[in-house]
Amino acid sequence: MRSGSKNLVILGMQWGDEGKGKIIDLLSRNFSYVVRFQGGNNAGHTIVVNGETLALHQVPSGTLHPKCFLVVANGVVLNLEVFNQEIDRLKQRGVDVLSRLMLSEKAHVILPHHILLDQWREGGAGRIGTTGRGIGPAYEMKSSRMGVRLGDFLHPETLHTRMELGYREVAARLGSQSALPSLEEIIERTQSWVAPLKRCIGNTQTLLYDAWEQKSPILFEGAQASLLDIDHGTYPYVTSSNCSVGGLLAGTGLSHHAIDMVCGVTKAYATRVGDGPFPSEIDGSLGETIRTRGKEFGTTTGRPRRCGWFDIPVVRHGVQINGAGGLAIMKLDVLDGLEEIKIILGYSDGSGGFTRHLPGHESDWKEVSPIEKTFRGWGKTAACKQWSDLPKEAQTYLKFIEDNMGCPIAYVSTGADRREGFFMSDILSSFMEPS
Ligand code: GDP
Ligand code: IMO
Ligand code: MG
Repeated sequence: MRSGSKNLVILGMQWGDEGKGKIIDLLSRNFSYVVRFQGGNNAGHTIVVNGETLALHQVPSGTLHPKCFLVVANGVVLNLEVFNQEIDRLKQRGVDVLSRLMLSEKAHVILPHHILLDQWREGGAGRIGTTGRGIGPAYEMKSSRMGVRLGDFLHPETLHTRMELGYREVAARLGSQSALPSLEEIIERTQSWVAPLKRCIGNTQTLLYDAWEQKSPILFEGAQASLLDIDHGTYPYVTSSNCSVGGLLAGTGLSHHAIDMVCGVTKAYATRVGDGPFPSEIDGSLGETIRTRGKEFGTTTGRPRRCGWFDIPVVRHGVQINGAGGLAIMKLDVLDGLEEIKIILGYSDGSGGFTRHLPGHESDWKEVSPIEKTFRGWGKTAACKQWSDLPKEAQTYLKFIEDNMGCPIAYVSTGADRREGFFMSDILSSFMEPS
């Protein structure tokens, strides 16, 4: 085993959209590899450089740094049509991806009938507000051993049989009324999406193991977040993968030795898109103000995001299940100018008890009511580049969060652009070379 590695994991601590894309872009010029290991094109990771915005769904967020090798590992489910579109869009901007990309032969493919099934379910009683991208059905097929992997397209002799299994099941569920294309049509279409990517398909596990052994720095890019984790999130209002650190090991084939630091990303407030528990949700015009200021509309679906206050039990849960050693606090500037700002300290459980633990069951979430602490607002933090530039009230707010987290603040973000924000301590800056 080698020692002295510098591999970093970036994970969401809330319900997604914390600003992972920004921090990954900011850090990735110092890494040789940026790796997606779970989720699919339900993710929408935004990067803003010099006023230009780039939204990425499946291409890793290190893409703007030409020396970064991009890896889509086995735990991801891939929509190949969307992936090609992303690559084309990047090419139009002068960013070449195909020469520095490997897609795992073991990554599962999201097929057109998975998307139809997801959308069909969302029209029924089991609706949870998914992105409608076929993520659930693709992971479901994987678990029930009827999935189709990228490597299957390198074996045309068995492809039809492999595809037929899952297709038949979905067809039976959707019935003849659905707009389900024929199996032959789906195979043809999918093959045409695989064709431009064929030379990028390979064994990402050995690629990453060798990189780790050679001490090449690796940045792992989480998608979604702890509260959307299939095991540790607000089930059933979750996504279908383990988006916490456990998903990294299964999703890459690397061991825990490959992880040197986990950085948790959280907003200075909270948002959630889709249905499900959200105790700190702010109703009415204040919620609307934060939504508008924070541009809280889904990167993937354009849906308005529900807005709420920073919730200590939620983020502590994320810190605990992921072993986060530092927190990146994003979008502080969105709270600028508010008279009062609240933080959820814990929950009253209905019988007068106070808890900082998250309920385990959907029904229990309905029973809890948040206990808030109110802070004085501040003037302006937008574009602040150091701690001493922040108004005193903002410093008090952040210190309170840090003291209650058991995890130091590593970065404070004060605007969407790469340049807006600053590192605290050397938790993350130790991963950066001087520019
Ligand atoms: P991700 O899914 O975690 O990568 O986050 P998204 O990209 O879906 O959503 C975060 C949004 O906030 C994007 O539009 C970012 O450009 C934006 N953003 C990130 N950091 C900041 C910040 O500090 N301030 C402001 N105002 N916007 C930010
Ligand atoms: P990033 O990586 C926010 C939510 C959906 C829905 C639930 C299940 O940008 O943070 P799915 O389509 O995954 O089956 O939907 O998960 N969701 C996200 N919310 N950010 C995301 O990704 C999300 N990916 C999925 O809204 O509630
Ligand atoms: Mg997002």
